[in-house]
Amino acid sequence: MSRKFIRFVSVLLVLSLALGSGFALIQAQDEPIKIGLSFSDFATERWKNEEVLMRQLLEDLGYEVISQEANHDVVLQNNQIDNMVTQGVQAIIVIPEDGDAVSTAVDNAAEAGVYILSYDRLIKSPNIAAYLSFNNVEVGRQQALGVLSALDIDGGEWTAENPVRLVKLGGSPTDNNAILFRQGQDEILEPYVEEGIIEVVADQWVDNWDATNALRIMENILTAQNNEIDAVVASNDGTALGALQALSAQGLAGVVPISGQDATADGVNSIVRGELTVSILKDIRDLSPLAVELIDSLVQGEEIPELEEYTMAELTNDETVEGTVMAYFLPVYQVNADNAYELVVESFFQSYDDVYRDIPEDERPPVPEEMEAESEG
Ligand code: GAL
Repeated sequence: MSRKFIRFVSVLLVLSLALGSGFALIQAQDEPIKIGLSFSDFATERWKNEEVLMRQLLEDLGYEVISQEANHDVVLQNNQIDNMVTQGVQAIIVIPEDGDAVSTAVDNAAEAGVYILSYDRLIKSPNIAAYLSFNNVEVGRQQALGVLSALDIDGGEWTAENPVRLVKLGGSPTDNNAILFRQGQDEILEPYVEEGIIEVVADQWVDNWDATNALRIMENILTAQNNEIDAVVASNDGTALGALQALSAQGLAGVVPISGQDATADGVNSIVRGELTVSILKDIRDLSPLAVELIDSLVQGEEIPELEEYTMAELTNDETVEGTVMAYFLPVYQVNADNAYELVVESFFQSYDDVYRDIPEDERPPVPEEMEAESEG
């Protein structure tokens, strides 16, 4: 063999090795980065909507999405998170069923280098990368204000001799948000309670935010109180609509003011029918993209400017919880019969047909112009 030939062969060999490893590199780069979505449940309307939205946004950015829903099961959610880590996710967006219990899986994931974004509900671990949510205390304030304004609390009818007989229905006690909603509600209610103008006749929490639980709890309260209830501060639409079933059976739906949250299709339909008094709009169309943007920045190692540092103590309303977290909160809006059309229908947060379902055509407001244009076009 000539030297020339040997050199030629070895050049070929080196070239093919280089090409080969280059190819391998391209392949590795081509493999999409995996991101996990871990949901507490899909029973509340918003979570499924947010799953669809975040999955789409992440996939548009080229990520592979692994999404799981834990059906309110704390152990299952931890297993699902462990499993996502095993599958090699680089980040997980977590909506915890239980902000304490989920820390076990979250701490392990963080230790393995996985970014954890606590979504809407706080995870009580110092190892989360960030927390994104709405102004949850304001949610509670607006719920109570909506109910009190429907009662015309300062109008003179309600006095210490004739107090408002009020029911408090909290959310799931394992959800930190439920504590914050209660904090906001109490801020508004307390001064009236102290003056004796409001008498709290029942105070309960609804496990799992479950509508059937709420129905049963409300039935028992109505029985115990001889139906003498003047107002209900409930913490979301699902539980409020459960309670409304019990009120309705006693002829009290539309008579007793009651609050909700989330501006769900059923909730806003109930508002325009005159049963649910008030809901709270939290625009998930702003929260989900923000979460995806944040995940993208974390994974790409870019800076995330919007976040501010908060203490765990202030976010949990509990002085004993230690540590700090980087967080960001979006505003919330009270929805009532006067503004539901503008806030919910015209903004397309819920569809016109869902909101005015079962309402006679001649009692409906006009179809929003944009929607008309769309269906004509
Ligand atoms: C809360 C959430 C609310 C509501 C509720 C029930 O944590 O902030 O918007 O959906 O859970 O799922």
